[in-house]
Amino acid sequence: PLPQRFTVPLPIPQAAKPTRVDGTTEYYTLVQRTADVEILPGVRTRIWGYDGTFPGPTFHLRHGRQAVVELRNELDAPTSMHLHGGVTPPESDGYPTDLVKPAATKEYTYPMRQRAATLWYHDHRMDYTAPQVWRGLAGLCLVSDAEEENLGLPTGRYDVPLLLTDRAFDEDGSFLYPALHHGPGVEKEYANGVLGDVMLVNGVPWPVHEVEQTRYRFRIVNGSNARRYDLALEPGGDLIQIGSDAGLLDRPRKHRKLTVSPGERFDVLVDFAGYPVGTEITLGSLVRFKVVRPGPESPPLPEKLAGLERLGDPVATRTFDFRTTMEHHGARMWTINGEMFDPAKSLATPQLGTVERWRLSSDFHHPVHLHLAHFQVVSRGGKGPAAQDVGWKDTVDVRPYEVVEVLARFDGYRGRYMMHCHNLEHEDMAMMANFFVG
Ligand code: C2O
Ligand code: CU
Repeated sequence: PLPQRFTVPLPIPQAAKPTRVDGTTEYYTLVQRTADVEILPGVRTRIWGYDGTFPGPTFHLRHGRQAVVELRNELDAPTSMHLHGGVTPPESDGYPTDLVKPAATKEYTYPMRQRAATLWYHDHRMDYTAPQVWRGLAGLCLVSDAEEENLGLPTGRYDVPLLLTDRAFDEDGSFLYPALHHGPGVEKEYANGVLGDVMLVNGVPWPVHEVEQTRYRFRIVNGSNARRYDLALEPGGDLIQIGSDAGLLDRPRKHRKLTVSPGERFDVLVDFAGYPVGTEITLGSLVRFKVVRPGPESPPLPEKLAGLERLGDPVATRTFDFRTTMEHHGARMWTINGEMFDPAKSLATPQLGTVERWRLSSDFHHPVHLHLAHFQVVSRGGKGPAAQDVGWKDTVDVRPYEVVEVLARFDGYRGRYMMHCHNLEHEDMAMMANFFVG
């Protein structure tokens, strides 16, 4: 029972509210539990949600203000929570084997010494990230700072998060996922990644959102397991990019199209002021905006956004090759430099505070994500970066048989972190590696 497209209103996830605030810190509690919700008309879907919702509540955090989240697991499976894009101490980074067992509680500490950015949080359990995120364990975290605040960017109802996911459903409304029954991983035909046929934005299928004739900010987050989206406005219009994964750009950039791969974020402005009331504009066949009334006059677009230093002088160059491998106990696996993930092993030991050049190569589409370290793309396919590669990133889509070079800065904390492919099926099938910041 699929709904008619562009009839369901776009929901905005509720804001997480601190239970306590002191001079340095906001304290939150978050409960992972199941809930039965109506995603498709007339049927219930059992989700696994943070606070029983999908997406989970949105955290609004502030640069320099620490957040402490007490996570309670009321599910019957272990979990691990990762703040994607967070500069987080290793013990709070959601390492796949740092499990929160059923009925247990873990405290995660986020110092938030990082710039304004659109982050997201999701499950990261060893071998089971893909099915657990598929069931709904994902939410947004918006970090603000003074630099961003002074720009006069759209706020409140003009600042709209768009969490993109695709899902498949059984006739009774339950999520369909091709898991193997005897252990982790998916059926062989799905080793490339699991795609759904129903596109959800903020957890509902092909929604519609009423907008005013003014400028909006959209925080686009691809939370899908394996699907990438080509985003353009139909019948036409500019996407003004102001931010990438890890924060604001130096200046706005105009795009007609953006391709967003799993894990990536694009922070964009769309000005509906030029469209007559009654116009319908669709973004990437996923969500429709209906211009319904006049809105406040938009201030001029800032010419400069954030200070963005160019990274230079790498102290080391390393190559990581993302590739599939032979059958492993009957399953196809994915490797980095020929190795399947081994929690006991590090593939690199960058030094705290240094910049390294990492060359990422692939045999397939692999959205490569680094924990802790933010990076800048310096080349793609032997040429300069693509137009959408600008700014501070933590995830970069390496396309089939392509080499992408990034300069990464290992800042913040020492300890064990990881990189992995953010195609969640590849991640669960061993395409992860530790690096150790010394
Ligand atoms: Cu969004 Cu290690 O992942
Ligand atoms: Cu991959």
